[in-house]
Amino acid sequence: MMKARQIHIVGNWKMNQSLEDIKNFFIEFSKMKMDLKCEAWIAPQYIHLPILKDLAFTTGNIKVGAQNCSEVDSGAYTGEVSAKSLADIGADFVIIGHSERRTIFKEDNTLLNKKLLNAIANNLKVIFCVGETLDEREQGKTFTVVEKQLNEGLKNFPTDKANLLLIAYEPVWAIGTGKTATKEEAEEVHAFIREKLVLELKQTVILYGGSVKPDNIDSLLHMPNIDGALVGGASLKASDFKSLCIAGSSSSFTR
Ligand code: PGA
Repeated sequence: MMKARQIHIVGNWKMNQSLEDIKNFFIEFSKMKMDLKCEAWIAPQYIHLPILKDLAFTTGNIKVGAQNCSEVDSGAYTGEVSAKSLADIGADFVIIGHSERRTIFKEDNTLLNKKLLNAIANNLKVIFCVGETLDEREQGKTFTVVEKQLNEGLKNFPTDKANLLLIAYEPVWAIGTGKTATKEEAEEVHAFIREKLVLELKQTVILYGGSVKPDNIDSLLHMPNIDGALVGGASLKASDFKSLCIAGSSSSFTR
């Protein structure tokens, strides 16, 4: 049965935004009136989660989540933050497997699978990121790489919790580079991801990420398998984030 898609616009603030920047962001965001019909989510640094949760809710019904979490609930893991603690403070979601976690922090699919299963067990929504490097794309390995990330990352996924899963396709060569995949390049991989998902996960929200901006979001959201965006740079400015949310609110595709 065809059903309207719920578009998700997710800001990944990475290690940016001071407390003052955050306050100004929401002052500006709340001044710009809009009819928010899409899901609007932001992932700040861990330490800012509680304050963001208050500001985000009162000024615009934005949901708040983390950029990473531990694979275990508690114990002697100095410096780590558990999904359980994130759920405790009311975080709605967590991003797992962002390419910066994979490359800078050497997180592999086995570890990411443990993190994902633990976050799901704690009833957090998970945005699981996949994507190929430029080298891999040039060698024609995009589909093999993405399929392996999906198979290993989603191993033993409890399909009765399908509503907690989102996937983000983020070609590594498009992240923070200003080079967006064309809408056709992105759609091809999104359709492939959907085809590979088991029946119970077929309606999973699949986001595109990599240099998404107010001037390219519309064309991406016109593609049948692109259900929203995971946005770094352009989510830091209230006016840009708002424009992305307006684009997300006016997209009316059914699938
Ligand atoms: P970008 O980052 O929008 O700045 O390219 C996307 C991401 O890292 O999720």
